[in-house]
Amino acid sequence: MCGIIGCVSDSDVLEILLDGLTNMEYRGYDSVGVGVHDGKTIKVIKVVGRVAELAKNPDLKSTCGKIGLAHTRWATHGGVTPENAHPHLSCDRSIAVVHNGIIENYQLLKNELELKGHIFRSTTDTEIIPHLIEEELKTGRNQRDALLAAVNKLKGSYAFLVLFRDLNDRLYGVRKDAPLIIGLGGNKNFVASDVLSFLKHTKEAIFLDNFEVAEVRRNSYTIWNFNGEEVLHTISTLAWEATSFQKKEFTHYTLKEIHEQRESIFKAFNQDINEVDRFCLSLQGVNRVYIIGAGTSYHAALIAKHLFIKMAKLPAEVILASEFEDYIPLVDEDTLLLAISQSGETADVLSAINVGKRKGASVLSIVNTPTSSLARESDYTLYLKCGPEVGVAATKSFTAQLAVIYSIAFRLSNTAADLQRLSKAVNRVFDVERQLAYLAQVFLTAKDCYFIGRGLNYPIALEGALKLKELSYIHAEGFAAGELKHGTLALISEGVPVVALNPNDKTYHDTLSNVAELKARGAKVIGVSDVANPLYDYYVEIPSVESIFYPIVEVIPLQMFAYYSALERGQNPDYPRNLAKSVTVK
Ligand code: M6R
Repeated sequence: MCGIIGCVSDSDVLEILLDGLTNMEYRGYDSVGVGVHDGKTIKVIKVVGRVAELAKNPDLKSTCGKIGLAHTRWATHGGVTPENAHPHLSCDRSIAVVHNGIIENYQLLKNELELKGHIFRSTTDTEIIPHLIEEELKTGRNQRDALLAAVNKLKGSYAFLVLFRDLNDRLYGVRKDAPLIIGLGGNKNFVASDVLSFLKHTKEAIFLDNFEVAEVRRNSYTIWNFNGEEVLHTISTLAWEATSFQKKEFTHYTLKEIHEQRESIFKAFNQDINEVDRFCLSLQGVNRVYIIGAGTSYHAALIAKHLFIKMAKLPAEVILASEFEDYIPLVDEDTLLLAISQSGETADVLSAINVGKRKGASVLSIVNTPTSSLARESDYTLYLKCGPEVGVAATKSFTAQLAVIYSIAFRLSNTAADLQRLSKAVNRVFDVERQLAYLAQVFLTAKDCYFIGRGLNYPIALEGALKLKELSYIHAEGFAAGELKHGTLALISEGVPVVALNPNDKTYHDTLSNVAELKARGAKVIGVSDVANPLYDYYVEIPSVESIFYPIVEVIPLQMFAYYSALERGQNPDYPRNLAKSVTVK
């Protein structure tokens, strides 16, 4: 994870770097640092905390330069300390590096470098990079060749930037299994983990491929592969607008993105019919379909499996991307992997599809970020079209994933739905927002919270629990309602909140029986349903919709509950502790 940005400009880069980092804080926000070449030396400032902390640092006032690099961290190797924040420097401070990813063989390299006299100041894997380059320079190589020689000794997945004190007109960027993009801004060029960091300055970008090194100057660039051979790339024009990253009238991105669902769901439904048909042909043309995702995208995958079976009798298996390895023996040319991901950069997902491709499987994906690695590595992709999602919690991307999945299921089964009715229903869901804010107050001191549902509502129970734990830090679990009596009931005692997803579908009566069992053991039940019942201590009314659409109208109140619970408990819902939006490490 972590966000990295570098800029070479004809004017001071400090503000540009800090602003770029702010737009990448979703990638990590436990510590932050910047390195600027002032013409003579590389000045490095780093702190624990977010970009706003760094911006207050008095040393910044005397920092200026036309070339620099910066980093926002999500710790993997080494605790959250100023020493472990990036940039990291070589012994003689002539080489600065910011890095996203993991160097797997760092311990071995560190031992070798220490034997050669290198002194390490941090406990990170990253710090071996500047020392390794420093060592390669001693052999008489120039900077580019020393970098290439060092890169060929690294194992792992990484994107990193290098600034040399003795070359104050260029930056180097290296990519292997972590995103890295060059932004071409006329009188300034960028190289960063995400286009969001420079979108304000330019829409012209080059997406580096794995095993590439870029040299970026103020108004030119060159790209080589790891063998030093020059590589040519086409320049892409970015589709997203910088304005879509503004919070507008909302206090948090998360709340803004929850509200955007009134429109985003229907933008996602609006897929080109020919593209959906092509997707369906691929799905139907193979022996085995595995649907892969992580976190919220995994919950969308569970719903896809239900719908494909229910509506089109198309069997599919859902696999957590991080658990895919065990299924590799079953993957062959007659296998299709359907990868679902908001970011398209989740390392577990990319690793699964890469292994699958090597065994001959074809890859379809459902992705939000058009320029992501997953989109580029898939045979075919359908897009969520919900615009950038900044809040760490997936909200609008989840319902957009559902909309794309419904579109596929409708085509597979030659059916259609009344989307106007659904649109009215989605608008009506927002009537319960105040009630959810109130319930967040009622359960302010709750230590645990459970979510139950059957059938299509079960993945929503999982999703409701994930949202609550990641935003409010309340211990929460989702269960298949029928499983309660097989163990989970033992957890229920007086006053424990349980959210029952109980719409008026074929699961209604069975789930109601489970609610009665919970009540008999003292649970406080929040019934999310379109049918009131005296068994519920609190009734959150959702609109009646076609039964397959209940997941959409159920999940929005659960997102609100998680958001307001975070606020009640004094947490910032946009930046939950220990997490990052884009999980680019395995
Ligand atoms: O970008 P992806 O959809 O691949 O991300 C997968 C998960 O990391 C993500 O859904 C995560 O669980 C969210 N924070 C959940 O809100």
